[in-house]
Amino acid sequence: MRKVFPINDNWYYKPEFSSKDLLCEAEECKASFEKIELPHTNKELPYNYFSDKDFRFVSCYKKWLCLPKECKGQLVFLDFEGVMNYAQVYVNGTLAGSHKGGYTGFSLNISDEVHWDKENEIAVVVDSTERPDTPPFGGQIDYLTFGGIYREVQLRFADPAHIESVFVKTEDILSDKKRMCAEVSLQNIKDAGYTLEVCLMDGAEVLAQKQAAIDENANLAAVELSELECIALWTLEDPKLYDVVCTLKKNGEANDEVRERVGFRQARFESSGFFLNGQKIKLRGLNRHQSFPYVGYAMPRRVQEKDADILKYDLGLNVVRTSHYPQSRHFLNRCDEIGLLVFEEIPGWQHIGDEEWKEQAVLDVREMILRDRNHPAVILWGVRINESQDDHDFYVKTNETARMLDPTRQTGGVRYLTNSDFLEDVYTMNDFVHDNGYGKYLQKVIKDYKTYDNIQEIDGETTALRDPRMVTALDRDVPYLVTEYCGHMYPSKRFDQEERSVEMALRHARIQNASYGDEHISGAIGWCAFDYNTHADFGSGDKICYHGVMDAYRIPKFAAYVYASQVNPEEKFVLEPATYWTRGDRSTGGVIPLTIFTNCDEVHVYCGESLLGVYYPNRELYPSLPHPPVVVDRMEGGWGSKWTDAEFVGYWKGEPVVRRTFQADPVPTFFEIHADSKTLVSDGDTWDATRVVFSVTDQSHQEMPFFQEPAVIQVSGAGQLIGPSVVSSVCGKVVFWVKTIGQKGTMQIEITTPRLKAPVCQTIEVK
Ligand code: GAL
Repeated sequence: MRKVFPINDNWYYKPEFSSKDLLCEAEECKASFEKIELPHTNKELPYNYFSDKDFRFVSCYKKWLCLPKECKGQLVFLDFEGVMNYAQVYVNGTLAGSHKGGYTGFSLNISDEVHWDKENEIAVVVDSTERPDTPPFGGQIDYLTFGGIYREVQLRFADPAHIESVFVKTEDILSDKKRMCAEVSLQNIKDAGYTLEVCLMDGAEVLAQKQAAIDENANLAAVELSELECIALWTLEDPKLYDVVCTLKKNGEANDEVRERVGFRQARFESSGFFLNGQKIKLRGLNRHQSFPYVGYAMPRRVQEKDADILKYDLGLNVVRTSHYPQSRHFLNRCDEIGLLVFEEIPGWQHIGDEEWKEQAVLDVREMILRDRNHPAVILWGVRINESQDDHDFYVKTNETARMLDPTRQTGGVRYLTNSDFLEDVYTMNDFVHDNGYGKYLQKVIKDYKTYDNIQEIDGETTALRDPRMVTALDRDVPYLVTEYCGHMYPSKRFDQEERSVEMALRHARIQNASYGDEHISGAIGWCAFDYNTHADFGSGDKICYHGVMDAYRIPKFAAYVYASQVNPEEKFVLEPATYWTRGDRSTGGVIPLTIFTNCDEVHVYCGESLLGVYYPNRELYPSLPHPPVVVDRMEGGWGSKWTDAEFVGYWKGEPVVRRTFQADPVPTFFEIHADSKTLVSDGDTWDATRVVFSVTDQSHQEMPFFQEPAVIQVSGAGQLIGPSVVSSVCGKVVFWVKTIGQKGTMQIEITTPRLKAPVCQTIEVK
């Protein structure tokens, strides 16, 4: 039977490489290398304003290990989940294999290189430069591709005759009697006597089971389980998962077993929209980059999972696009568990390279699909280089590869082109048309060399989304999905001036409204969920693109509440007035018009003691949104009059259900600390981490947008801080991650700020 050992601890790392490193003995190496654990970033970086050359270098990782005697006679594999960007793996000094591309994993058979009777040395030479022979490189790209062995590694032992991969197709899912077929790729079946047993399980309960004989020399076997009754569907509300266990047996005795988690669901893009299990669902989503402050791509399981939770539960999304590459297994697993749909795509950004480069991209399609085709959450494969030009033969190949490896899913290919060569099943379009008139406004400003206050007067382009037929230039409706909007059209920082932050939010609202209003649009996935690090060719000059509806620490901007407020009020009430509630932050003063993102059906607004009015969702401006925002268009008193506290009370079915109070004269009052997880796990192999948010809020717990005072963070005990220990707060928040250090016990976090005499503390248990 196969045996799998995660090998993420006790690696040794050197941020440079010379061929001498391959020859150096264990003890000598250990003395000059740094001891690290995976996932690992090749260089810890500041939050912003760094040079991306700082992490673009070749480094060396080494590990020494002895093989378990009981596995002798089996094949030995090393499985890497993600090494950015090119890895050469040496075992006991011999090159065992290499892999190009940092977003998909690879396995190496190292059986011929290992010793069974003495310690083995694994050395990985990691080239984290932007090699032009590998997607996404060769041109400019708007994101940073942080280096290192940034995902996990395992050692796997298997019998020569073993299972290579399993693909489970679920069929007839809308019938009472469902079917599933396990297609199993096999290795080294050289003689007769092998059978394959496939078992469908719900927890420990066996629901169905079947065995089939395997032909001599077969490298593929398929077993179908039919007449499956009482199978729950995988839905967004109740994403039921089952296990499929495939066991390869020789003369009745098991010699390999693979377990895959699956869901029974049908996902189809039609010209009339997107259907999950036959039910039409408007897709409402955002793009996600997998980067984090300081450690780039190297975050462990818990943090990857938390991102999925934030997208589903904090932002109320039903879909995420893993722009612009395959993302962590942990992130996708969590999407399966919580019912968050995924559009996954191959690495790339506008540039298409030479023939060798294109072959690599086709290989990326293959590696992505082989890795992820059992995830029920994945509903669409992106098989074009994001926003590249048409390239007929290349994209015929990527589409063919995807359809061959997974006939159950449709393909998309993200472009910004109209009338583009439509080889995919879904026309996936980055529609950046909406600039709220700004383009025309700018032309006029430049022409007349003066500024105009009212953009609307300029008769600008206020269209939110283009008509799909206009985009495709086809005379028929086709499956159509908007895959980006907003982003560079209107970046906004969390600490921006109120008007800018509000306008960013309104653009997201207008575009979602347009998506809901067009039955031929399957949905819209905005740019983007989180601010991200980027090259100097993009962003705000500090190596950050402030395009997220949340910042890089996953703290919401106003735009986040456009999404959050679309959830069913039966699940959660949302009431977020998009205001700092100040007299003098906006041009000409005041807070009007004031947009309140809410799913309540009425909002009572009080200024001081008096009721300003009762306001309702604005269906005139946002006729198609499930929960249009409320717009307050009137305020008493002007410049020079007294500024008062405000209270917003959200009502649902006639009852007050949620309340927000704003202070006219806010002062820092609450100093609080919150950790996403209060218990971490030190399992003796890899590290664990959680985000911690320290916030300073006013008398009514409101965020203080201009509170920037520094905080000193101290972490002691069984943990360690990621990133710097003295940090300025942003809008009254200091956010950081803490990690385990291979010890059990407790970790103490202490925050001191100039305003507070006593530190604020949090204890995290490490089990
Ligand atoms: C798109 C691109 C994204 C991001 C975005 C910014 O063109 O696909 O990666 O750069 O623009 O708005």
